[in-house]
Amino acid sequence: MPLPEHGRNRTELFSEIEEMKSGDAKWDQGKTFSLVYPTGRADIDDVLLEANNLYLYENALNPIRFPSLQKMEADVVANTGALVNRPPAGGGTMASGGSESILMSVLVNRDRARKERGIGSAAGNIVYPTSAHAAFAKAAHYLELEARPIPITVDFTADVDAMADAVDDNTVLLIGSAYGYPHGVMDPIEELSTIALDRGIGFHSDTCIGSYVLPFLERLGYDVPPYDFRLPGVTQMSCDVHKYGYTVKGASVILHRLSEWIGYQYFLYADWPSGLYGTPTVAGARPAGPLAAAYAITNYLGMDGYLELMRELMATTAKIRSGIEAIPGMRILGAPIGPLLTFASDTVDSYAICDLMDDRGWNLDRNINPNALHMMISPLHAQVADTFVSDLTWAASNAGQSRGVEARYN
Ligand SMILES: Cc1ncc(COP(=O)(O)O)c(C=O)c1O
Repeated sequence: MPLPEHGRNRTELFSEIEEMKSGDAKWDQGKTFSLVYPTGRADIDDVLLEANNLYLYENALNPIRFPSLQKMEADVVANTGALVNRPPAGGGTMASGGSESILMSVLVNRDRARKERGIGSAAGNIVYPTSAHAAFAKAAHYLELEARPIPITVDFTADVDAMADAVDDNTVLLIGSAYGYPHGVMDPIEELSTIALDRGIGFHSDTCIGSYVLPFLERLGYDVPPYDFRLPGVTQMSCDVHKYGYTVKGASVILHRLSEWIGYQYFLYADWPSGLYGTPTVAGARPAGPLAAAYAITNYLGMDGYLELMRELMATTAKIRSGIEAIPGMRILGAPIGPLLTFASDTVDSYAICDLMDDRGWNLDRNINPNALHMMISPLHAQVADTFVSDLTWAASNAGQSRGVEARYN
């Protein structure tokens, strides 16, 4: 039966959906530390809902039919660009998420190298630290480039010398994260982007997390090493509004130092019976709700709104961090700069601790090499920080054997 023969009763249907959903992560109770970025603020949820619902059916594929979407996209791109000091000659577009922004960046650099340096795609390669997001390996796979992951240092940062050694005449893009997902540490973006500049190749500073964190930390007086377009070697940046910009999923920005490079990103096709077809990203039909929500939330919060959220978020992070560090044998890996902590126990199996935390409903991610636990902290976690620390302290002193590794989807 391809469909129910008769439409189902709405009340019954939604109680079934609620029932299915009850097995999902309890992120709205602050139990989840990745995948979602809850603020716990009803006013923010309302803004997102209203904007999303207003554009439930529209299609951002066609800017002529929906000029309001084009205007909102331009605003989100410009505001995000200003956050990371995109130069006036630069440009960008929105994408569905960090992975699509990264795919577009790799595509642009592959095709730019093909045109300007004559590097065929089978020969081209990209060089990145092993801590760079898996989206770079995925992009290399899709675009038939050789992926060159370079082992990171004991500080969990990119190894500048090893990366320089891995660059050759066929390298189309060098990559660093500001900051990276696995450990929340900043790669040495200045040194890496200088290598790229000297060698005449692209450099992608991945700020999928950092773009809506680091500019605020800088303004709050934190010591933030250079990571953005103020460095002349940075050619592309990926900036997710659907992480610490707090909008609903489906909103990222890919930025280019020169707007003319967007030409490599666009797919234009004139030989179609339905007329000229053009798209800036992989999607054809593009959901309008996430775009409108990104516009609404960035304008609703504004600089002061984001600064306030960040100030409180860093206070929560400091509280959780000192709670973790107070547990015997437990230590934070590397020097995380923002609200992301990765920690491991030197005395107990970290995965066994994670198992016990799972039993209490917490969702932590499990790192490998070394085994460690990973958390991205969001504003809502202010409400659960004390309980989290006391449960973690209990888990660390009661952990036995690990029950094994779960599948990874982050
Ligand atoms: C540093 C970094 N880059 C890229 C991505 C990929 O973003 P998305 O999951 O939106 O595709 C993530 C996701 O967590 C990330 O943390």
